Amino acid sequence: MKEQVARYDHLYTPEHSVLTTGPVSSEPYISPEYFELEREKVFKKHWSLIGRADDIPDSGDFFVKNIQVLNTSVIIVRGDDGEVRGFHNACCHRGNRVAAGTGNCKYFTCGFHGWSYDNQGQLANIPDEKLYFDLDKSTLNLVPISTATWKGFIFINADPNPATSFIEHLGGLAEQLEPYPFDRMTRVSHYTADVKCNWKVFIDAFQESLHVPYVHNGILSEAYAGEGNPGCRATSFRLYGLNRSHSPRRNRHYTPSPAQGLAYKYALSFSGSADEPEDSAGGYPGINPSGDPDVAFDVNVIFPNSFIDAGGGWYFTYEFWPLAVDETHWEVNLYVEEPQSAAQRVAQSLIVVEFRDGLREDLTTLEATQQGLMSGAVKQLQFSDQELLCRHQYQVVDDIVRGNNF
Ligand code: FES
Ligand SMILES: [Fe+2]
Repeated sequence: MKEQVARYDHLYTPEHSVLTTGPVSSEPYISPEYFELEREKVFKKHWSLIGRADDIPDSGDFFVKNIQVLNTSVIIVRGDDGEVRGFHNACCHRGNRVAAGTGNCKYFTCGFHGWSYDNQGQLANIPDEKLYFDLDKSTLNLVPISTATWKGFIFINADPNPATSFIEHLGGLAEQLEPYPFDRMTRVSHYTADVKCNWKVFIDAFQESLHVPYVHNGILSEAYAGEGNPGCRATSFRLYGLNRSHSPRRNRHYTPSPAQGLAYKYALSFSGSADEPEDSAGGYPGINPSGDPDVAFDVNVIFPNSFIDAGGGWYFTYEFWPLAVDETHWEVNLYVEEPQSAAQRVAQSLIVVEFRDGLREDLTTLEATQQGLMSGAVKQLQFSDQELLCRHQYQVVDDIVRGNNF
């Protein structure tokens, strides 16, 4: 036990020379001017998760996302040639949107004056074409947005010539996640929320586990914090350039409810696993690089606004899309491994409800936190060692906004 407590008491921030240890300013969380700089330098210049390629499995399948922080609407479509592409959803005639929602089509036809484009973005037809003067039709295709597909995830970058490719941007995180079996998983739940808080306040609530005993003071608190680790300290903080990860620990002394105990026999969940106490992450490839036997799952943050959090038998993604300095649109998707039996399918439903209930708890502090910062009463934030990833986010964003290289 002594050895375990010593392990939990370890300080991680001083091991990262790029990180400071002092208080940080509250200004970046509340300043409209700062937010405009983030829009231009952070969001319009970096890669963001927008969906999965298996959301559009067939030629002509598409979905549209209106992305306020990028000042654009984006169509993601699988063309007749099988390629996944992204386009600005803006007609080359006078700018109207040519698609909405989700669907399947061979042509996108603008609802304003009928110009149409094929599902590879090429201009296909202009009604009454003879009325126009000297059209150079080769320049009138849908305007592409930079798109990258990795492990079935689709990322976009509003910069037509991104400074780094997506895979360069991912850096060491790509190697870390490489063996994870994303292709064996299917989506089992999807949630969205618009919350009145800054996007960094929102993300911070999901990149530390210090809040678990307080915000999740029901099942998850007992399953994560407990004897030897009452503060729910995470382990193994990892920085990959602009990206970051850590691994919350699980409480190996937790006594599951009878229903949980039954479910653990067939599937890994947020509160426990089939393999405890040897390896609570289930020995899954691509997670728990520190090899800590108490790791629950890995939190992986891809700068600036995407999460791919991976556990044993399940993973989930978050997209945080700012709407304003004090409002953020959130998209959540949960995926689980294809069940091998009916019992496993039933057991997996525990993952769905534990995840949902945890998220509802996570949402409870955000708007009050933003209001506290907006009051101007709190001019600085104090990040502890366990809030290492929050500090990393603050520093990375601040360096980019100020024109430095992190
Ligand atoms: S704006 Fe699309 S056809 Fe006129
Ligand atoms: Fe939480």
